[in-house]
Amino acid sequence: MPPSFKDRVVVVTGATSGIGRATALRFAAAGARVVAAGRDQRRLAALAPDVDCALTLDVTSAEGLAIFTAAVLDRYGGVDVLVNNAGVGLFKSWDNTDEAALRRVMEVNLFGAVAVARAFLPSLIARKGVLVQIASVAGKRGYPKHTAYCAAKHGLVGWSEALRHDLRGTGCDVVVVCPPAVRTPFFENAGYLTFDEDHPGFVPMTADIAAAGILDATAARSRTAVLSPRARALYALSVVAPGALEAIQRWKGRG
Ligand SMILES: NC(=O)c1ccc[n+]([C@@H]2O[C@H](COP(=O)([O-])OP(=O)(O)OC[C@H]3O[C@@H](n4cnc5c(N)ncnc54)[C@H](OP(=O)(O)O)[C@@H]3O)[C@@H](O)[C@H]2O)c1
Repeated sequence: MPPSFKDRVVVVTGATSGIGRATALRFAAAGARVVAAGRDQRRLAALAPDVDCALTLDVTSAEGLAIFTAAVLDRYGGVDVLVNNAGVGLFKSWDNTDEAALRRVMEVNLFGAVAVARAFLPSLIARKGVLVQIASVAGKRGYPKHTAYCAAKHGLVGWSEALRHDLRGTGCDVVVVCPPAVRTPFFENAGYLTFDEDHPGFVPMTADIAAAGILDATAARSRTAVLSPRARALYALSVVAPGALEAIQRWKGRG
């Protein structure tokens, strides 16, 4: 039985595509009043009938975030769940990643996510709510050609785990979600067009399955949710035998 979020106010960033869109729809189906946020106006308008409201948000714009936060708090009075999902990929070796590209990935995946969290934390604390950070398995270990992306996602995981200490006793929980590869436009948007060729036989998770995992982790207020048994096994291996995992990655040319 899927968890109920009846009348909970749930903000989902990056809701115009992939995991964010599937998560917004699942929360709406579970009874939540969903605020779907994104930049793409056409996709926001298409989502609007299925959620409580759809609002523009570029997480890298301080001014835009202030307008968005004020609009949400004005309309709902507070927020119970923030799904900090907006993100971009970059899959190039370190010497093909210039500083501008590194900063772009950090701006969205780390500084943008942290800014949105900071904007809503007073409200989440007041409501003993849940901050759901969509990180990645790449926030837990290194992958070939992922230096910028791993740096940003490790940063988000570290910030979130430290934040959990600071929030102790407030009743507000931090859930770190680490999806494995999920079938969305994410890799294509990052210009990584050979994902399927590079991963023969590998079947990425669907966005809807990832979204179901995100709702379960939110309901359970899990500390960390690594969303597939395979990813959990590889993460465990990276902790107990990091050299063995790196050898497997080198052999396969990937994670
Ligand atoms: N797909 C995977 O394999 C995978 C695996 C692990 C973790 N993740 C993480 O899951 C999250 C969602 O990824 P996805 O696979 O669903 O990718 P996606 O389909 O490309 O969707 C990314 C979403 O992020 C939004 N976004 C990008 N830049 C933004 C910005 N500056 N401000 C606001 N929104 C922005 C996009 O909105 P607009 O287009 O409207 O700008 C879009 O809705 C990301 O954080 C990603 O790192 C993905």
